[in-house]
Amino acid sequence: MKKIILSCLCCSVLFILSIIISSSSASEIDKLTGWKFAQLAKGGVLYDNWPAELRVKVDKTHPAYPAGGKIKGADTWRCKECHGWDYKGRAGVYSSGGHYTGIGGIRAYANQDPVEIVKVLKNKTHAFENMIGESDLEALALFVSFGQIDMDLYIDRTTKKVIGEPANGARIYLTTCIKCHGEDGKAINSGNAQKPVYIGTSANKNPWENLHKIRWGHPGTQMISLLFLGLKDQLDVLSFCKTLPEE
Ligand code: HEC
Ligand code: HEC
Repeated sequence: MKKIILSCLCCSVLFILSIIISSSSASEIDKLTGWKFAQLAKGGVLYDNWPAELRVKVDKTHPAYPAGGKIKGADTWRCKECHGWDYKGRAGVYSSGGHYTGIGGIRAYANQDPVEIVKVLKNKTHAFENMIGESDLEALALFVSFGQIDMDLYIDRTTKKVIGEPANGARIYLTTCIKCHGEDGKAINSGNAQKPVYIGTSANKNPWENLHKIRWGHPGTQMISLLFLGLKDQLDVLSFCKTLPEE
């Protein structure tokens, strides 16, 4: 009997602990004010494509990119290319297909000390040496620690369905995104004439990438970040984008 009571007690302590952890991570992002918040926002853009954002020219393939991988050159330096849009690397959407590398994700470093993350970014494997400055490494570390989320909680891995309210997302899209992407998302084609990629296309084909861009913006452009809104609004925008025409 005593044993049962004891293990129940253990369970509830663990349960309360997990609540504290999840709520402290939420307030962690709120604690980042002023410049730190701006740096966090930049970190998300850098994760997507730091060579594009920082206008750094790289031609050779990253030394840690596996020889069997299908991508070559500058793109192999992007964090997302090795660690994924869902931050889960080989355990996530990049577990197979053209972007498979076998490299792990960055989820284990969520809510970790940014100082420790900067150390990881300065290691030999990453080989960034003098390509990324100190303040941008800090920005990336803030993103890894406080910016990344568990996308599997909101986007179904197989059906690509998203938890969100398109009607609320429409209110946001039609007052902000519309300025550049147009009412139907077709004002910008990020593919080519033969194979156009509009917001509706990518939101349905790659909702993980879209969610990352909705939260952080698009590297090397004027695109805004919706980080100031909560995750619920961001998911609402994504679910509205899925209703836009794919071609
Ligand atoms: C060419 C591939 C490649 C690129 C690009 C890359 N990484 Fe990594 N990263 C690795 C490898 C390899 C490891 C070692 C752990 C592994 O194999 O999973 C690692 C480990 C990490 C870890 C520790 C994960 C853990 O659980 O041990 C973090 C955090 C990280 N990378 C962040 C980044 C960030 C931020 C960027 C972009 C600025 C980046 N990485 C770009 C290959 C890459
Ligand atoms: C100030 C202009 C601007 C605004 C506002 C803007 N974007 Fe963008 N967006 C761009 C540009 C420029 C690109 C890059 C297009 C390219 O070169 O491929 C882009 C790229 C994207 C991409 C990646 C390409 C694709 O179609 O998958 C997505 C997703 C995206 N934007 C979604 C949004 C959403 C959602 C909003 C509103 C929250 C928004 N954008 C607001 C300018 C803007």
